[in-house]
Amino acid sequence: MQNFSFHAPTRIHFGQGQVAQLAVEIPAASRVLLVYGGGSIKQNGVYQQVMVALSQHEVFEFAGVEANPEYETLMRAAAQAKVAKVDWVLAVGGGSVIDGAKFIAAAALLDEEIDPWLIVGNRTPIRCALPIAVVLTLPATGAESNFASVISRRATQDKMSFKNAMVFPRCAVLDPALTLSLPSRQISNGVVDAFIHTTEQYLTFPAEARLQDRLAEGILSTLIEVGPVTLAHPDDINARANYMWCANQALFGLVGVGQPQDWVSHAIGHELTTLYDMDHAQTLAVVLPSLLRYCFDDKLLKLAQYGRRVWGFSGSDHEVAHAAIHATVDFFEQMGLPTHLAAYGLNADEVALAVGNLLPKHKAFPLGERGRLTLADCMAIVRMAK
Ligand code: NZQ
Ligand code: ZN
Repeated sequence: MQNFSFHAPTRIHFGQGQVAQLAVEIPAASRVLLVYGGGSIKQNGVYQQVMVALSQHEVFEFAGVEANPEYETLMRAAAQAKVAKVDWVLAVGGGSVIDGAKFIAAAALLDEEIDPWLIVGNRTPIRCALPIAVVLTLPATGAESNFASVISRRATQDKMSFKNAMVFPRCAVLDPALTLSLPSRQISNGVVDAFIHTTEQYLTFPAEARLQDRLAEGILSTLIEVGPVTLAHPDDINARANYMWCANQALFGLVGVGQPQDWVSHAIGHELTTLYDMDHAQTLAVVLPSLLRYCFDDKLLKLAQYGRRVWGFSGSDHEVAHAAIHATVDFFEQMGLPTHLAAYGLNADEVALAVGNLLPKHKAFPLGERGRLTLADCMAIVRMAK
């Protein structure tokens, strides 16, 4: 196992009725910027629950954070936070709203002379940020209790992350009942995104991180169990609670500590979203199977372990590893996510060229858990996803 340091300061309130904890977590009389997306929280009653919990607070609202949160939008929110002199930022929504809140919290306290765009990509240090609280409405990214944020800037074709301990949310409410209004497309996205966060930290090479492996296998097995149930029976609150906790744990940090990690599916996936406006999880469902096939020999031992422990297959390493990739593809398709670019009307050769032009702007090569993948390899992975 590799050395690691681990820190997870977010207090998680899990279960029905836990929105009320906001009143305890955010000191009364605080000035709170409530950040949300396109309005789902007003239709499903989440907004009303939050406002009841914040009856002792002074609440300012910023609505309209879009999926794949846009830098220009977030800059308007940061300006509002400064003018209103807010003490807290409260994100109510999915990963986009939460990531947006992380940026707002950092940008609002940045020195005037520093370009806030430099926050993205960690090109300027963040020394402080407003405290952040979260009410999660879409289990997928783990953003509610991690220190990462992914921001898009459409004008310059950028989608990049930043990571900083200052933007760990102080608290996060995970109430499965708040997700009952999710359309099936977002359930599919959420389950597959959580699945692939786990594989990015697990399907690499053996590193004697036995507990981390079994955490990963537990998350994958549980998602395989509850994902289809949640799609077929949207009112099954127990399945949903387990899906929500899996999505949190997949990117909470514990799966990846002391382990080699990959993240190439995410690197390529972010470019596909920028170029073709695909949902984040749609891009991953297309890239991961192709990556596993392309890197088959490098990942053979872990693929075989995955096939045996998660899918219950037997046979030689090669047989089990191939069967595991097939089963993974079937699972994504069962969850309603196509695994080929053609299903999105895209030509793989053209896509590979476009990704090849954009990726070097955002990533330093070589990539992958062994540091072996070149730009040409990444383009080949995209071509194989035809
Ligand atoms: O905007 P509203 O109206 O709220 O609608 C949203 C949005 O249209 C809707 N939604 C959310 N909760 C709902 C709901 N609709 C009905 N009922 C509810 N309860 O869902 C749509 C998608 O929301 P979004 O937040 O964009 O989805 P997701 O949580 O999948 O987040 C995706 C973003 O997170 C980034 C992605 O790149 C993408 O930008 N990621 C962040 C990570 C992190 N911070 O650690 C890691 C991930 O790998 C990922 O990159
Ligand atoms: Zn993801």
